[in-house]
Amino acid sequence: GLPHPAIPLPRDLYGERRKNSRGMDLASEAQLAELGTVLLESLREPSLRKTGEVIRNPADHGDIVGRVEEATPEDVQLALTAASEHAHDWAAVAPAERARLLRGAADRLEQAMPRLMNLIIREAGKTASNAIAEVREAVDFLRYYAAQVEAEFDNATHQALGPVVCISPWNFPLAIFTGQVAAALAAGNTVLAKPAEQTPLIAAEAVRALWEAGVPRHALQLLPGGGETVGAPLVADARVQGVLFTGSTEVARLLQRSVAGRTDARGRPIPLVAETGGQNAMIVDSSALPEQVVADVLVSAFDSAGQRCSALRVLCVQEDAADRLLEMLLGAMAELRVGRPDRLAVDVGPVIDAEAQANIRRHIEQMRARGRRVHQVAGRALHPLDGGTYVLPTLIELESLAELEREVFGPVLHFVRYRREDLDGLIAQINATGYGLTLGLHTRIDETIARVLAGAHAGNVYVNRNIVGAVVGVQPFGGEGLSGTGPKAGGPLYLYRLLARHPRGVAERW
Ligand code: NAD
Ligand code: ALA
Repeated sequence: GLPHPAIPLPRDLYGERRKNSRGMDLASEAQLAELGTVLLESLREPSLRKTGEVIRNPADHGDIVGRVEEATPEDVQLALTAASEHAHDWAAVAPAERARLLRGAADRLEQAMPRLMNLIIREAGKTASNAIAEVREAVDFLRYYAAQVEAEFDNATHQALGPVVCISPWNFPLAIFTGQVAAALAAGNTVLAKPAEQTPLIAAEAVRALWEAGVPRHALQLLPGGGETVGAPLVADARVQGVLFTGSTEVARLLQRSVAGRTDARGRPIPLVAETGGQNAMIVDSSALPEQVVADVLVSAFDSAGQRCSALRVLCVQEDAADRLLEMLLGAMAELRVGRPDRLAVDVGPVIDAEAQANIRRHIEQMRARGRRVHQVAGRALHPLDGGTYVLPTLIELESLAELEREVFGPVLHFVRYRREDLDGLIAQINATGYGLTLGLHTRIDETIARVLAGAHAGNVYVNRNIVGAVVGVQPFGGEGLSGTGPKAGGPLYLYRLLARHPRGVAERW
């Protein structure tokens, strides 16, 4: 299976402990269920919601995680008015004070780790180790941007944009949501945050932590709801001075059209930061260590059920090493345990919803119909999988990388062979997808590393390791081409995109 969490799981989540065959702790399902329904505060006075759209656990559709009320058109207008009327107040708060508030929110998230993990597992279908990493990443974003704004910013030379819309995906429902919001707030902007429709409850927890830490409600407003009904009108509003988007390339294109031609009061185009999908490849030559490759491929392709923008989609193996590696990989895939992620032995949880499941299955069937060999691992389900939206880890042998037309967002790995003398041609094919997010390389030949680094278009390249899990502040994350506009999240340039102009240079004779 995949590596198990290095960090011990918090006791209070698991209270009553049980062991599985590997001696690992198992969650008490009774306790997970008891932590129960989370109800969302809306824009208006906080109130417990008993109505609204039901959010179901993707691992078990009988489990209702909570309810959410979509922001109405009136809510959207009220929020936009508040965000623009109070933009000046928030921008005037000293950077050190903004940093203090973000750190307060980070502390709150850290203290709430068990509750947040529970919600991430149940609302997003993530495994426990993924849920820990998700909370940690959210905390890291808050502290990273806090430290930067405190060290580098002052309000005289760093002028905020004004109201900024943050639109995030469901696959990092806490980390990416919090990262966008933290950055926009740190730079002094008021924020209108629209989480993915599948995962508003965990986003509400981040907003609550920021409010409780002292961020005023007019500086940060949560607008749950659909992309077209809430996201699109927010982005289209003339009061909005910047947009942070993470999600699919298709939606990024719509948003680009929506902001195109719009300028701020000084005539500068409204910034759109879009971090989008990938068609991520890993190149493996015959000098690579096969056992290491297999371990890294499993994590890269199947961790989070392949639902990471960074996940490995196509493994490109030098022809002379391909048969052996394929055999080892299929053997290792057969050991992956698929099932409810509230069982800690699980490696691969569900995909997010029935629509995602149908899309992934359609792709697999199309490839089968084209005569491609499809290997699906059927033997390791921990329980009947009909209660949730699961897709078994799948490997599809292709003739060429050019057969891949779109990002398939799930536990599906494609496998192609290349000839040693065709390495440059392979790099050109990878580039020809138009995406450029992550790229992996397994080789022990320095010259090959240099060639791939020089030729490939990819925002984050990983050599002789897996290709997921970029660390905030250490591996700034973001793609090229169809994969993103930059600047990279969790890197030193991000906050500078959220300012109305480049920091002013002031010189004075003493
Ligand atoms: P999505 O594009 O369907 O949705 C993302 C967000 O956009 C959601 O909040 C959605 O409600 C909103 N949205 C949809 N239509 C909209 C519209 N017309 N106007 C305004 N907002 C709209 O993506 P998803 O399915 O939530 O997430 C998966 C995608 O995100 C994958 O393509 C993945 O590669 C990408 N992703 C990229 C990164 C990165 O850092 N590059 C990180 C995570 C996910
Ligand atoms: N930052 C996330 C990763 O690297 C998307 O996997």
